[in-house]
Amino acid sequence: MSGTPQVDPPKPPAPAPGGGLTRRALLVGVGAAGGAGAMFAAMGALGLAPQERREDYTPPRVSDFHLTGRVAADVVVLGAGVAGLTAAYELGKAGYRCTVLEARERTGGRSLTLRGGDRVSELSGETQTARFGEGVYFNAGPGRIAQWMVTLDYCRELGVPIETFVNNNASAYVYNHGMAAPVRARTARADVYGYVAELLAKATHAGALNRRLTADDRERLIDFLRRFGDIGPELTYEGSDRRGFQTYPAVAAGVPLQGPEPLAEVLAAGIGRAVTADFGFEQAMPMFQPVGGMDAIARALAARVGEDRIRTGVRVTRITGLPDGVEIAYQGPDGPGTLRADYCVAALPPHILAKIPGNLGPEITAALATPTPVAAGKIGLEYGRRWWELEDRVYGGITETDLDITHIWYPSYGYHAPRGLLVGYYNTEENAELYGALSHRDRLSRALTQGKKIHGEKYRSEVVSGVSVHWERQPHIQGGWVRWPSYTGAFELLQRPAGRVHFAGDWLTHLIAWQAGAMESARRAVTAVHRDALSRTPPARSDASQGKGT
Ligand code: PHE
Repeated sequence: MSGTPQVDPPKPPAPAPGGGLTRRALLVGVGAAGGAGAMFAAMGALGLAPQERREDYTPPRVSDFHLTGRVAADVVVLGAGVAGLTAAYELGKAGYRCTVLEARERTGGRSLTLRGGDRVSELSGETQTARFGEGVYFNAGPGRIAQWMVTLDYCRELGVPIETFVNNNASAYVYNHGMAAPVRARTARADVYGYVAELLAKATHAGALNRRLTADDRERLIDFLRRFGDIGPELTYEGSDRRGFQTYPAVAAGVPLQGPEPLAEVLAAGIGRAVTADFGFEQAMPMFQPVGGMDAIARALAARVGEDRIRTGVRVTRITGLPDGVEIAYQGPDGPGTLRADYCVAALPPHILAKIPGNLGPEITAALATPTPVAAGKIGLEYGRRWWELEDRVYGGITETDLDITHIWYPSYGYHAPRGLLVGYYNTEENAELYGALSHRDRLSRALTQGKKIHGEKYRSEVVSGVSVHWERQPHIQGGWVRWPSYTGAFELLQRPAGRVHFAGDWLTHLIAWQAGAMESARRAVTAVHRDALSRTPPARSDASQGKGT
């Protein structure tokens, strides 16, 4: 299966000390009696199961998330994206037997990392093949994780190493229509803060705020504004070292940049966006990414769930709720089939679920059709030379622009490597639709024309390969994420199960477009399944199931 990691075969076990039954002999016996799943479980219990942990890192043994009591019910999970995989992983710990059905050929859903040789097809019929060199990867979906998100707890638990994602870099640029040249974020920030401080300090000094502020308040405010804006004794902003240098300070003093431009020009340039991009609670530094690509998280989850429990290339065609369970009809690689289970966790995008026939009823179907898909797209641009580090001294971070590419992301990995990959656009809504409607060639050419306005001719002439993803055209996904008209009504309805069908996904949280949303929602669904199952399980059966599980 393409979506799960290549793992080394377990090392041959050493002879058992004391001449008892060797571990190998035990495993052969278990394998013969119980098949691959039982063997894998036994290997796990003996500490032999292949794991992608680093030698020097020991994650906690049990999740921060606990289900108390074990149940041996069957659950069919629809979708092997982050929500479905998290659900199957957590249910497996509590003894459930999960089967995960995934329509795509690989697991991970939108958590898609592309490397050299990977192919991506879009619903338009176009297929691209990534030509990236060794060590170069492109996170086409999620790319950053905030410190407070549960995603980091899963990284810790699964032994996925993380590194800093540079979400904000004062050396990156701001470029808006009509500007003669891009400016560094630090320069934009210095000028905007400087002029705002000047205006407010002068207004305060002139008494314009006397009804609001006491004399002490005014003094303290002006003291703050001097620091905030680096304004002079006359409370005037005249620029400062904060803006940066033409020639960096060394043995000789640095040569400061020319400027600042007058206030009216700073305002007209509209560079305020550069000073607020990381203000959001979700976007504040430091942020993180898994080492080697975002898909490490989904791959680690899939490995823990077990390859034998995940079936790719299986498209759900009907969801039938039964009084005591659920029946799923599907089209698989070998033709149609059905599967019965005690519970279903439906972790597909709502607009996909809404179109699957079944008997969940018109109210559920209407609720699933309520959120609307939001378009999002990204392009990865590979260069044979890391000119942004070599020439521009930009190590990670994001350039902000009002051009249709919206942002340029510089890589937060592989510093000083021979080659590297930029995200040449990450846009949403109309800008994403604009690029999405083009062929890959035309997206590339447009993205290069735009980026050239910021970085000059090398941006176009030195690119060596590119891959783009328009999420609305990704089979079985068909959207970047969703937007709800409100968080009441349909949103609330779908938090509750439809009989034995429980819904999960980032779309059912206030963390839409974050893996953390998918994980939190999966945990909520798993808790609800478990509560229901425990309430129906006679204690004897619960006891009998002790010790079973993955
Ligand atoms: N999580 C995505 C990102 O960081 C989309 C998003 C952006 C979500 C901003 C919320 C706020 O780019």
